[in-house]
Amino acid sequence: MSDVASRAAELREAIARHNEAYYLHDDPLIPDADYDVLVRELRSLEESHPEIALADSPTHKVSGASSAAFSPVTHATPMLSLDNVFDEEELIAWSERLRRGLGEIDNKLVFSVEPKIDGLAMSILYVDGVLSVAATRGDGRVGEDVTDNVRTIANVPHRLTGRAAKGSMEVRGEVFLAKADFAALNARQRAEGAKEFANPRNAAAGSLRQKDPHLTAQRPLSFLAYQLEVVDGNDEVSRISRHADLLATLADEGFLIAPETTSEVGVAAMVARSTWFEEHRHDLVYEIDGVVIKLDDLAQRAALGSTSRAPRWAIARKLPPEERTTRLVAIEVSIGRTGRATPFAVLEPVVVAGSTVSLATLHNQDQVAVKDVRPGDLVIVRKAGDVIPEIVGPVRETGRRRPKAWVFPSTCPRCGGALERVGEESDTYCVNPECPAQRLQQITHFASRGAMDIEGLGEQRVAQLMDAGLVADVADLYELDPAAVAALDGLGELSANALQAAITSSRTQPLSRVLVGLGIRHVGPVAARELARRFEDIEALMSASEDQLAALDGVGPVIAASVAAYFEDRAHRERIRRLLASGVSLREPREENQLAPTLAGRAVVVTGTLPGYSRDGAEEAIVARGGTSPGSVSKKTYCVVVGDNPGASKITKATDLGIPQLTASQFEELLSTGTWAPLSP
Ligand code: IVH
Repeated sequence: MSDVASRAAELREAIARHNEAYYLHDDPLIPDADYDVLVRELRSLEESHPEIALADSPTHKVSGASSAAFSPVTHATPMLSLDNVFDEEELIAWSERLRRGLGEIDNKLVFSVEPKIDGLAMSILYVDGVLSVAATRGDGRVGEDVTDNVRTIANVPHRLTGRAAKGSMEVRGEVFLAKADFAALNARQRAEGAKEFANPRNAAAGSLRQKDPHLTAQRPLSFLAYQLEVVDGNDEVSRISRHADLLATLADEGFLIAPETTSEVGVAAMVARSTWFEEHRHDLVYEIDGVVIKLDDLAQRAALGSTSRAPRWAIARKLPPEERTTRLVAIEVSIGRTGRATPFAVLEPVVVAGSTVSLATLHNQDQVAVKDVRPGDLVIVRKAGDVIPEIVGPVRETGRRRPKAWVFPSTCPRCGGALERVGEESDTYCVNPECPAQRLQQITHFASRGAMDIEGLGEQRVAQLMDAGLVADVADLYELDPAAVAALDGLGELSANALQAAITSSRTQPLSRVLVGLGIRHVGPVAARELARRFEDIEALMSASEDQLAALDGVGPVIAASVAAYFEDRAHRERIRRLLASGVSLREPREENQLAPTLAGRAVVVTGTLPGYSRDGAEEAIVARGGTSPGSVSKKTYCVVVGDNPGASKITKATDLGIPQLTASQFEELLSTGTWAPLSP
């Protein structure tokens, strides 16, 4: 066999294996986008080497299979698949093929542009208005009889009473789980200790293809109709000449029709509308993996016809995939300014949701264990919208031994000191106060916009200063030797002077900003303001008792204990002494006591408890900055801050509406700047 023939055989074998897992077991082995890549490769091999093409290649068939657990149903008209395009250019090329296929036509083409819901295709036969048989797609010709299961879906009409109530009609559509229903189902699975579903599509297919319809009835499935086929005996509907009118007929009969579906006149409008879906996919109540574009004119459809696999008059524009597989090269640990050790995945770069991902967070030691990912594994990477990339889990690879499990290091990768886990927390910390990784983050934080705001002093510059031995502590910044700074690589006199000037002017920053910059645990801008306002200078603050601190508004016992502990530490007292000696003001001027209206006119919803805040305290902090803090999420919500034990409904709603969700750790930044940076891995 030639290389090409053996590669084609390998691809066909892999595609068959993935079809079985997806259609028969409702448990795919790889993300859809990776499957599409295999099919594309096979198709292009077959096109460039016609001698290896096979009549029964998966590129010519509707993929799918039927389980012996269900009786076979032969579809009155075959249930076809759709050909795919992946960008605007390919979509336009398809529309040009349509034009050529239709010969000379003067008018612009009219298209129906519809969401491609990621669920399970269903054909429901109504005879004289009575639901009689419901079947899955199967291989396109013969599907599985799931009538009893489909009867349990709440929004499937059992009887039709309108125009479609006469003769035999097949209603085609998608059985799916709305995102909110999927979240609720998984919450229930979790509560019952059962396995969670990987995505709404698997959950829908697995719920529907149950031998016992009572089980299906307990799942919040929905049905959305997108096609109506007259089998026979209904002249009135047979005379309908436009797809849009068929959809209207379905809607009249009580079927759910995608409200986002529009008719577009001309290719440009059609392309623009399909791109609209790409931008709004996260605002829809269901998960979509693409957009389906169909010719609206049924006579034009008939003229174009179909191949054995797919109609020529319709196409699926696939959206950028949010899940891909890639190789996990290594797991590394980063050390934050508090010493927290966060494991992250180093990946072979892969394009997910339109951007290249080479790092992904693994959160903490427990998450690595739960996900059971090991360096060397093929893993699924997920990136939805603006959220930071995450590892879903490993891909089961046949005939490959799993690499050894990864062990969380017991020492800090930077300073070699001990890594410790305290109490019940899932976080691990480097407990060496001298650790250069911590110092780097501390100094960078001190110089950051929300703290001392020293322009030009970002992480890389700090690292350079540290490597040159010029700084090891924030206090060293004010004792820098200008000549040594100017001699640094890539700096020169001009930038060195600018940096010096920025450092010098930061000495007049108010006490509240210094307190933020010191990175005292639990002390964010709100508590820092309160402390600074009450005590006005650092000496008064340092000599306050823990009780005095705890009595302040917005401070409380946790912050009070943390502040007291900070100032008890000898090294910290020395740092303060040096800052004072270098002329850092460490005073809060009275006119500074006004909070900046960073959240003016913005609605920030808080769910769960935020460390260091009472319920009211968090709301007050938002209101003090000109914002509002309503009790529920709506389209107008600016963002949702998610604390401990958050409310599931708020998160679901925010997810459905595509409202940004912030962690408690981003709350301070939100308050002080009105915006937030993505979490670093
Ligand atoms: S039309 C002959 N319309 O996508 C036309 N399909 O990849 C075939 N799908 O099996 C179907 N939303 O399960 C059509 N608005 C929509 C759809 C849609 C989702 C699914 C359907 C089909 C698959 C083809």
